[in-house]
Amino acid sequence: MSKIVVKGGNKLHGEVNISTAKNSVLPIIAACILSEDKCVIEKVPMLEDVFVISDILRSISADINIDKDTNKVIIDTSNIKDCNPCSELVKKMRASFLIMGPMIARFGKFRLCLPGGCNIGTRPIDLHLKGLSALGAEVNVGHGYVEASAKKLIGDKIYLDFPSVGATENIMMASVMAEGETIIENAAEEPEIRDLAKFLNSMGANIIGAGSGTIRILGVKSLKGSTHRPIFDRIESGTFMVAAAITRSKIKINGANEEYLKPIIAKLTEVGVHISSQGSSLIVDGRDELRPVDIKTMPYPGFPTDMQSQMTGLLCTVMGTSIITETIFENRFMHVAEMKRMGANIKIDGRSAVIEGVKKLTGAEVKATDLRAGASLILCGLVAEGETEIADIYHVDRGYVDIEKKLKALGADIERVNE
Ligand code: UD1
Repeated sequence: MSKIVVKGGNKLHGEVNISTAKNSVLPIIAACILSEDKCVIEKVPMLEDVFVISDILRSISADINIDKDTNKVIIDTSNIKDCNPCSELVKKMRASFLIMGPMIARFGKFRLCLPGGCNIGTRPIDLHLKGLSALGAEVNVGHGYVEASAKKLIGDKIYLDFPSVGATENIMMASVMAEGETIIENAAEEPEIRDLAKFLNSMGANIIGAGSGTIRILGVKSLKGSTHRPIFDRIESGTFMVAAAITRSKIKINGANEEYLKPIIAKLTEVGVHISSQGSSLIVDGRDELRPVDIKTMPYPGFPTDMQSQMTGLLCTVMGTSIITETIFENRFMHVAEMKRMGANIKIDGRSAVIEGVKKLTGAEVKATDLRAGASLILCGLVAEGETEIADIYHVDRGYVDIEKKLKALGADIERVNE
């Protein structure tokens, strides 16, 4: 097991290159099931979750070639025979459910063990299943498995009770070859959904409105292979923006789409961070005095839940009272107990964290309890007095490429220790 050891106090400087988005790449790899032709995904981030979804596809006889030197992934699903992927792999990651839509669309069936993932809430899949049922699939859940079958999928109007990212993606993928038109209302609007639709349309799908609350999908007969380069990871960009802010430094972030980062830029600007764009780069300057703020996580274009723990870390170092309210996941304050070990002053009140800024954080032995929590503890370690050891770094490796190398190149005193 790896841990990361950070000695706090160094200012950051220089540039960092952002990888492509994990949350785009995972559904896009799943979407490759939809065509018998080869698909090529470029600039894929070499992350644990990418390896897991690739192994899940391999477990049903897909041929996946991952070139770690060029970051190119070639996916050939022409040999898929059975629709019952390896349960041990599926349990590793919640995003495994993303293969449900493509499997039912191409093979008319699947059997999947109920997926796992970060421990940030119960995370049901009822909306995904409701969508598949509306398209005509017969869905059964029992004994830890979800099974579905359909002779034919037929387009329908589907209203999502909540704009779930995964449900929107699954229904979009399930309906691309359904008969007639599918309309998803109250769809999630995250940029990764627009990216997935772009890829599906390049395969021959007919999707309009992805990235808005209403998505129309006109079913086509079949899809062909395609090549795609996913969008930059807005959460990784946001994490490095907070790294600049928490260390009161100025850095350049290469690979940042300003439009997709609007909710994060707006909040950091309110905190007092100066952010300007230069093409696809952002200059982030956190050297001015910072102010406390209130934040509520919301579906896109609201403030992303995936940036909540990093902002909590930052606000611990900003004098005054900040309140963060988490509305997306019910159990996403696990980093708070770890931050308190580092001297943070945070009180949890239901779905809100009340943060009183402290003069200094102090290094401690802490644990990454989930992916973003782990990242936030690394950020706190960058400014804590003395040494911070973050254990269970495998959570962080699910979503950040070489986080310690990127921070080290910016001047942080940080090492990975393999035990
Ligand atoms: C995706 C992202 C994750 C991000 C989350 C919210 C991927 C691979 N992961 O996860 O990083 O934190 O969006 O932005 O893209 N819900 C239901 N029933 C459902 C589905 C969801 O009640 O059928 C609830 C969940 O429990 C949660 C909320 O809806 O409380 C949001 O979940 P959702 O948008 O589906 O997140 P994911 O797609 O799992």
